[in-house]
Amino acid sequence: MLNPKDRIFTNLYGFESADLAAAKKRGDWDNTKSLLAKGADQIIQEVKDSGLRGRGGAGFSAGMKWSFMPKAPTPERPNYLVVNADESEPGTCKDRDILRSEPHKLIEGCLLSGFAMRAKAAYIYIRGEYYNEAAALQKAIDEAYDAGLIGKNACGSGYDFDVYIHRGAGAYICGEETALLNSLEGRKGMPRLKPPCFPAVVGVWGCPTTVNNVETIAVVPEILRRGPAWFSSIGRPNNAGTKIFCISGHVNKPCNVEEAMSIPLKELIEKHAGGVRGGWDNLLAVIPGGSSVPMIPKSICDTVLMDFDALKDVQTGLGTAAVIVMDKSTDLIKAIAKLSKFYMHESCGQCTPCREGTGWLYRVMCRMVEGDAEISEIDTLFDVTKQIEGHTICALGDAAAWPIQGLIRHFRHEIEDRIHAYKNGF
Ligand SMILES: Cc1cc2nc3c(=O)[nH]c(=O)nc-3n(C[C@H](O)[C@H](O)[C@H](O)COP(=O)(O)O)c2cc1C
Ligand code: SF4
Repeated sequence: MLNPKDRIFTNLYGFESADLAAAKKRGDWDNTKSLLAKGADQIIQEVKDSGLRGRGGAGFSAGMKWSFMPKAPTPERPNYLVVNADESEPGTCKDRDILRSEPHKLIEGCLLSGFAMRAKAAYIYIRGEYYNEAAALQKAIDEAYDAGLIGKNACGSGYDFDVYIHRGAGAYICGEETALLNSLEGRKGMPRLKPPCFPAVVGVWGCPTTVNNVETIAVVPEILRRGPAWFSSIGRPNNAGTKIFCISGHVNKPCNVEEAMSIPLKELIEKHAGGVRGGWDNLLAVIPGGSSVPMIPKSICDTVLMDFDALKDVQTGLGTAAVIVMDKSTDLIKAIAKLSKFYMHESCGQCTPCREGTGWLYRVMCRMVEGDAEISEIDTLFDVTKQIEGHTICALGDAAAWPIQGLIRHFRHEIEDRIHAYKNGF
C-alpha cells in the first residue's frame, strides 16, 4: 500500500482549492527554475532512470520517447509537446480529476517536459465533454502566465514556452495519438499510418511532436524534485511509481485512488472501494485496465498484481488502470456485447477489418446474448477477433477484439449454456 508521504496528487479529490496559491502550498512550482537548470539531457536521463512508463495505455517509457525528439530543432520546424486529455476509454476518469483539482501539476509538467524535449509549446487536447475541466485548466494557465511561470522567460529561466488548450468534439478515436494530431490540425480525427508518420519525426503541422497522457506529464515535476530513485523504489522493477486507479462497477464505494503500482488487485478493491458488493466471493470477473483489455475471472483476481507485467502475464493489460468490477449478477455476454457496440460506433471506418469487423462482432454478440447461435460459432467469433487484432492502422481494432477474446477464454461455458438453453426453449 502507498505510504501517504509518497502521494503525488494530494488534492486529487478537490478538497482544497486548485488555484495557484493553494497549489504552491502543496509544493507545485517550488523552485522550478532550478529543475530547468539541470538541463534538457539531464531531465530526460532522470525520467528514464525513474522508470516512468506512459499512463495513457501502452506503457511506453516516457524518457525514451522524449529522447527520440530532435536535439536541435529549427525555427521552421519547432518541436511540440501534445498532451492527451481526450480521456474517453470507458471506465477511465483519472485525468479529469487532475485537470480540475491539480491543473498546476500538469502545467508545470508541461514546462519541464517541454523544455527537456526542446519544445516551443504544449498543446493540451481535451475532450469536448470536459467543459468544466477545460475552464479550470484555462484558469490555471492564465494564472501561470500572469505569474511569469510560463510564457516568455518562463520562471526566469530564459526559456520561452507557451501552453494552449484545444477542445475536441467528443470522438473516442481522437484519443489515438495520430488521430488526435489530425484533429488538432482541423482535419477529420482519423489515425495516420505509422510508419511513416511517427510523431517524433512528422507530428503536428509536420513538426516533431511527442504525445503524452495527462498523468504521465503531471508526475514529472515530483520525479525531478524527489529524484528518480524515489519514484523507481515504488512498485516492482519495470513497473515503477504511483498510479491513479479508477474503480467502478459492483463495488461498495467506486472511487479514483492513487496507489503504489503493483498493489494486489484484491487489496486495491477491498482497501479503497469498500470491497465487492456482497463480498469477495460474490466476484465474477474484473476488466482491469479500461474497456479495451480482456477480462479476468475471480480465480486470477485473487492473486494478480496491478502492474504492466503482471497483467500481461495473465493475458490482459494495465491499460488505463480503470478497474471495472462485475459481481455474480452480471450477464457477462451482454456486458461485452455492449462494449462491442461502443467500438462499432467509434470505429473511424478507414480500415476494412475494423470497419466491417466491429459491426460483424456486434451482430454476432447480440445473437450470443440471446443464445441464438451454433456452438461452432464461438470458434468462428474468436477466429474473427484474431483476424482483426494486429491488422488495422490503429489499436481500436485490438480494443474491439480483446474483450470478446477474454470472454471466450474464461467464460466459454456461459456462452455454451446460453446456446443450449435457447435450443431447449428456455
Ligand atoms: C482508440 C484509442 C484511444 C486512445 N485514447 C487515449 C486517451 O483518451 N488518452 C490517452 O492518453 N491515450 C489514449 N490512447 C493512447 C494514445 O494513442 C497514446 O499512446 C498515448 O496518449 C501516449 O501517451 P503516454 O505515452 O503518456 O501513455 C488511445 C489509443 C487508442 C488506440
Ligand atoms: S482500426 Fe478502426 S479506428 Fe483505427 S484507423 Fe482502422 S478503422 Fe479507424
